[in-house]
Amino acid sequence: MRILFIGDIVGRPGRDIVFANLAQLKAKEKIDLTIVNGENSAHGKGITQKIYRQFLENGVDFITLGNHAFSKKEIIPLLPDLDRLIVPFNNPEGLGIGARIYDNGKIRLCIANILGEVFMNPPAFSPFKAMDQIMETYPDCSYFIDFHGEATSEKELFAHYYASKLLVCVGTHTHVQTADERLIKNCAYISDVGMCGAYDSIIGRDIDEVIAARIQEEKTHFKVAMGPAELNAVVIEIDESTKKASNIKRIQIRPESSQ
Ligand code: FE2
Repeated sequence: MRILFIGDIVGRPGRDIVFANLAQLKAKEKIDLTIVNGENSAHGKGITQKIYRQFLENGVDFITLGNHAFSKKEIIPLLPDLDRLIVPFNNPEGLGIGARIYDNGKIRLCIANILGEVFMNPPAFSPFKAMDQIMETYPDCSYFIDFHGEATSEKELFAHYYASKLLVCVGTHTHVQTADERLIKNCAYISDVGMCGAYDSIIGRDIDEVIAARIQEEKTHFKVAMGPAELNAVVIEIDESTKKASNIKRIQIRPESSQ
């Protein structure tokens, strides 16, 4: 079984590059299951129902989120109906469903989204408590975890602590792809998958606006940067007979002008 996981999709440039490449990428990599992180997909913060539907129409199976899960308030009353949306299990708002089951008859996969707590707004409870609760609530599963956190050290700690119990642990949130993909025991791991968004940007945001906000201390909206985009993802191979990850490979598509 082959899983495609696409990192944080930032605004329109991120959505456009994903929709332009997804079908081809899935065919080329013989993908069985596609998961994306959509927490920045609507104007850089949150997700809307329209964008949720677009993801599904374009071949995405599940959408994970992060600390901006509920930035677009319109999504909150719709949560019970959006059964492919996976909110952070330990989100401080206590909303939605933080884990979903995918079962293809050979493997029963629990896909969950967990917030880190280092250099982040405090989640409802620690990522470790979240993982323990997930295993208690969804026993007899293989676990795919999108760990949405800022600190590489926290992600490595989490992955090593749970490696023998996890199938996949992919980091999101920093928007910069790390080159540390590896297998830790049975678990495919990478500290951060990286983002899909404008290449000339500060993690997907307009460079001038970030400078104005941080250096000139002006009030800005940190608007999403426009222009040619990059796409960052990983492909994970699972041996369904042993229920172990056997490979993780990084995917990076950059604008031609940057090569
Ligand atoms: Fe985030």
